[in-house]
Amino acid sequence: MSSDPLEVLHFSAPALLEAAEQFGTPCYVTALAELDRRAAALRRAFPDPWIRQYSLKANPLPALVERLAKDGMGANVVSAGEWAAAAQAGLPNRLISFEGIGKTDAELRAAVAAAAVGEPLRWVTVESGSEMRVLEEAARSARLGESEHFLDVLLRLNPAVTPETRSEFQVGSKTSKFGMPEPELRELVQASVSRPSGLRVRGIHIHVGSQLMGTQAWAEGALKACQLLAEMSHLSGDLDTVDVGGGFPSTESPSPTDFRESLDQHLDEAHVALPRWVAIEPGRYLVASAGWLVTRVLHVRERPSLPQVVIDASMSELIRPALYGAIHPLFALTTAAGLPVATEVEGAVCESTDTFGIHDLPPLRRGDLLVLATTGAYASSMFSSYNGRPRPPEVLLQPDNTLTLARPRTPFAP
Ligand SMILES: Cc1ncc(COP(=O)(O)O)c(C=O)c1O
Repeated sequence: MSSDPLEVLHFSAPALLEAAEQFGTPCYVTALAELDRRAAALRRAFPDPWIRQYSLKANPLPALVERLAKDGMGANVVSAGEWAAAAQAGLPNRLISFEGIGKTDAELRAAVAAAAVGEPLRWVTVESGSEMRVLEEAARSARLGESEHFLDVLLRLNPAVTPETRSEFQVGSKTSKFGMPEPELRELVQASVSRPSGLRVRGIHIHVGSQLMGTQAWAEGALKACQLLAEMSHLSGDLDTVDVGGGFPSTESPSPTDFRESLDQHLDEAHVALPRWVAIEPGRYLVASAGWLVTRVLHVRERPSLPQVVIDASMSELIRPALYGAIHPLFALTTAAGLPVATEVEGAVCESTDTFGIHDLPPLRRGDLLVLATTGAYASSMFSSYNGRPRPPEVLLQPDNTLTLARPRTPFAP
């Protein structure tokens, strides 16, 4: 089956109606068969020895992480909370990498402590010289250098490319807050090599951006990382890893295979080889198209311009439209008879930016069920309890079309 939401809806509508009936609305539903299909496509494009890691920030629900682990995905986390979610899903530290711009001293110390007891994370990605100093200090305090254990480290490069995506997602551009410029990264490698501390600098990490609609900037960024690693290889025999990040779009095109082919072409033209270990860490590609947000109509109003409906989902459950004007396809699961008309769809919280845009919808009544599509990524993971809203239940649509509850509705905690 394709990922076209309308086509998938045709098969999933009975299960989505059933989810609303059993678990109430709003309610997140994730189709596991779609997760498996996406993971298989990634494995075909980036087979072993490529390291495939799922970026939990897209959706850290342990049941999904566990499923993706069965599909051959490790985990990429950005906080102690996500690390705990990956552990809850059954992943050992050796399959979990830790990156992120907001790592605290306590989190860095926890990474060192895990290494000191012989359970190191796959690696920690360092964002700056000051973060490296905290990590080194923690390693020294834990006497990591005097033990037989190591903590592997990647350094995040700002690849200074122009990713083919909306400006909010261009994290690999020169002016973004993420990563280090090349000269700073080189200095850090040199300094770390001359100050052994139990940290082992293994290579370079990049992430050029999300929802990439072209492969060029991603491949250019990956090439830069591979070239820089090769240039620095005389400094240390440990330099053997590049993590090229995530960014594959939720759409079918460009596909993971398109990205891989573009990278191979860039490497060939520049006569550069891949290092021994290469990793990807996609989020959205794996989970976005698998997710649905089932919602109910609260108000139906005639407005001078267009009919308007207010639904019981909001920017609390799906902030992407309010945050960056994302439009999610929306379909009616139940309706009155009549032809579709352009209808304004508004959310349930007290913000006028809480709107889901204009959609062609048949006549609706209070209580009718609608579904927002492609909500598997950056929806429940960005949930906010604004207006005292409960966290919606997380329901799994199993490949045999049965429903299971992965997390119940959680009331607002005052
Ligand atoms: C460093 C890093 N890696 C991976 C990802 C996952 O991105 P995507 O969901 O677009 O694949 C992100 C997203 O922000 C990121 O910042």
